[in-house]
Amino acid sequence: MSPFAHVTGWGMAVPEKVLTNDDLARMVDTNDEWIVAMTGIHRRHVAEKGETTASLATKAAVQALAMTELEPADIDLVIVATSTPEHLFPATACLVQDALGAGRAGAFDLSAACSGFIFALNMAAQSIRTGAIRNALVIGSETLSRMINWEDRSTCILFGDGAGAFILQASERPGGVLGCVMRSDGSGGELLSIPAGGSRYPVTAETLARKMHTIHMNGREVFRFATRVMASATKEAAARSGLRMSDISLIIPHQANLRIIEAAARGLHLPMEKFVVNIGEYGNTSTASIPIAACEAVRDGRIRPGDHVVMVGFGGGLTWGALALQWVEPFRRVTPARRRRRIVLTWLAHVRSFFRRVWRRVEGLLWGGRARPTA
Ligand code: ACO
Repeated sequence: MSPFAHVTGWGMAVPEKVLTNDDLARMVDTNDEWIVAMTGIHRRHVAEKGETTASLATKAAVQALAMTELEPADIDLVIVATSTPEHLFPATACLVQDALGAGRAGAFDLSAACSGFIFALNMAAQSIRTGAIRNALVIGSETLSRMINWEDRSTCILFGDGAGAFILQASERPGGVLGCVMRSDGSGGELLSIPAGGSRYPVTAETLARKMHTIHMNGREVFRFATRVMASATKEAAARSGLRMSDISLIIPHQANLRIIEAAARGLHLPMEKFVVNIGEYGNTSTASIPIAACEAVRDGRIRPGDHVVMVGFGGGLTWGALALQWVEPFRRVTPARRRRRIVLTWLAHVRSFFRRVWRRVEGLLWGGRARPTA
């Protein structure tokens, strides 16, 4: 049993295509000034044809893996937190597992809207701490642009696409994931939802006409709820981890609205410099927003080994949570040779996947594919 779960690799992927506020002003009755003043968002990245939740997740995961000593076959668990899965099933995590060639991993999706990455990281860390697994890949990935009503100015301005991935590894050295708070309040479920496409409202001509397969949100109520829970969850996660607020070097909040982050800063009596903010560039990428912000904070030298960091988020469900961790590893540098090796291994995963499909057919032909009732 290894008592500690360390973050040893991380990666992010965002589509190249950018949609600016001015672009949106040509689509709906809005303007750059309103969007910036009300949300802090300037641009967002949106998936192009062929880019999906799984493909962005895989890109981020390949980067994260390349920072570690691990091969895909060393991964025991893949969790993809997502609000925009590739399908209802199979799980997006299974598609990522196959694309990576992580042949020994169990894989599943986790649905907790924008709190999903925190919940998934906590689940993976708990599995490591019990000794059940040693290495986990945790991803937040979204193509929210595919679930937006592009005629609804109150939601289409908010969201963007992207993915972020962490590798968690068992370790004997103290640090890594420390403590977590996970909370939910289903009584607020209707405040933020994609009503149709599940078993309650299967897709019909009527649900399509009423755009029930797109994001519906009561922005004002969600705003009120978010400003209430961000500060309290942060304090609780720190306390559970035996930390005082003064021990926290940086807070990585879910990037939903700059005004919500500012309200959290006021609630915690902390300056905005203690918060990572990149909403201006990406908008709200739901489960991907926290890992993307973390990747950028490390890249910019704002997180260093030894630092205590709190990640905090909220989302549909309603859900909210916060997770405290100590950034510990003397991290490997990604060498060009290792990056090339990873590309070859990813290509080999496609070959492996192809042959597994062929072999499944051959097996079916050899041993019979039909389940006939015996007379
Ligand atoms: N451009 C111009 N005007 C607009 C726009 C727009 N894009 N959208 C709304 N307005 C107008 C409204 O019509 C309204 O006009 P009215 O007063 O004439 O009726 C006015 O602006 C105010 O609208 P509100 O919706 O009341 O504005 P509010 O202050 O609540 O801000 C916002 C809206 C930015 C969406 C805010 O409510 C918010 O950020 N809420 C939180 C949303 C959020 O975090 N969602 C994601 C959760 S994460 C997840 O799980 C996916």
